[in-house]
Amino acid sequence: MTQTPLKILITGAGGMLGTDLSNALGREFDVVGLERRPVTHLATPYDICDLTQARKTREAILSHKPDLIIHAAAMTDVDYCEEHHDEALENNVGATESVVSAAGEIDAPVIFFSTDYVFDGKKKGEYDESDVPDPISFYGKTKRMGEEIILRDAKRAVIFRITWLFGIWGRCFPKSILRQAAEVKTMNVVHDQAGRPTWSWDLALAIQELLNKKREKILAPGREIFHLGNSGSVHWADYARFVLKEAGLSTVKIKEISSADLNRPAPRPANSVLSLKKAEKVLGLKLRPWKDAVTEFLPKLREALAAQEAKAKAQDAEKENTAS
Ligand SMILES: NC(=O)c1ccc[n+]([C@@H]2O[C@H](COP(=O)([O-])OP(=O)(O)OC[C@H]3O[C@@H](n4cnc5c(N)ncnc54)[C@H](OP(=O)(O)O)[C@@H]3O)[C@@H](O)[C@H]2O)c1
Repeated sequence: MTQTPLKILITGAGGMLGTDLSNALGREFDVVGLERRPVTHLATPYDICDLTQARKTREAILSHKPDLIIHAAAMTDVDYCEEHHDEALENNVGATESVVSAAGEIDAPVIFFSTDYVFDGKKKGEYDESDVPDPISFYGKTKRMGEEIILRDAKRAVIFRITWLFGIWGRCFPKSILRQAAEVKTMNVVHDQAGRPTWSWDLALAIQELLNKKREKILAPGREIFHLGNSGSVHWADYARFVLKEAGLSTVKIKEISSADLNRPAPRPANSVLSLKKAEKVLGLKLRPWKDAVTEFLPKLREALAAQEAKAKAQDAEKENTAS
């Protein structure tokens, strides 16, 4: 007898991580997404649902009755959150409350993605899961509040704190460096924040591996936090240099500046390096070094951008033909 595949509901399915999760998990599980607005790049099915609307969120989740909910939706623009507290609370806290409450009604376990920004970044050495969070930005505060909801209210949940994401389907550092490299000969990049760049595709594959090899860790009652990311660490300026070198753009120079020079609305932790030991020991998850991930990512990004451009041109041509 064939087994019915696990039914997985992914919130924020059209975002950077959500799209990679949908693509990776959609290959072998029954995946449905929730997304705030239409997205043209998503190959798996999804419903439009604004998670800040509690009743609609409950209805959407109960109607699909998934075996597992992956809550990847969030308001992720850290500076915007700093200046728009109510919206940040609605999207990162209120939405998480609704998702967890509906998950409880159908007894579905929840995977929640949190962030290194729950820490103040003052620790010397890597942060492990037992370190006490003390966020310094409003975004970090809302993500910590989301964690607290999960830890208090969810019957079965795993929180993955992830860091410095890059990916094809969202705003990310390598894209921004390559965009600037087309316009300037020298760019200013901060040198006083360290972290682990992590490819959203590698995270999606790790979740897939987990569901195949250690599903009981996710489905079992209880709540647990794990740190997860590509291995190795770097500061932003060296990260930028590596991206430029790999893209064959080493003639563009990096001028190192401090976070104070950059003067962004939200403060960032100086140390964002999370220990990956627990995920490796307990879940058997060990992601490759971030440099290997970036090296594989850059050509994929070029292909994706070329495909997007070709699609846009074809759509324009079609519009012109229809109009004439
Ligand atoms: N990016 C990072 O460096 C990073 C680091 C650590 C942790 N994380 C966490 O990882 C997760 C995924 O991040 P990401 O970078 O993939 O984010 P992202 O690209 O910004 O995607 C988030 C998605 O969630 C959707 N969304 C937000 N609020 C929603 C709502 N109220 N209703 C429905 N959809 C909503 C967004 O839609 P709209 O675009 O329409 O708002 C977007 O498609 C988040 O929980 C984030 O906090 C990210």
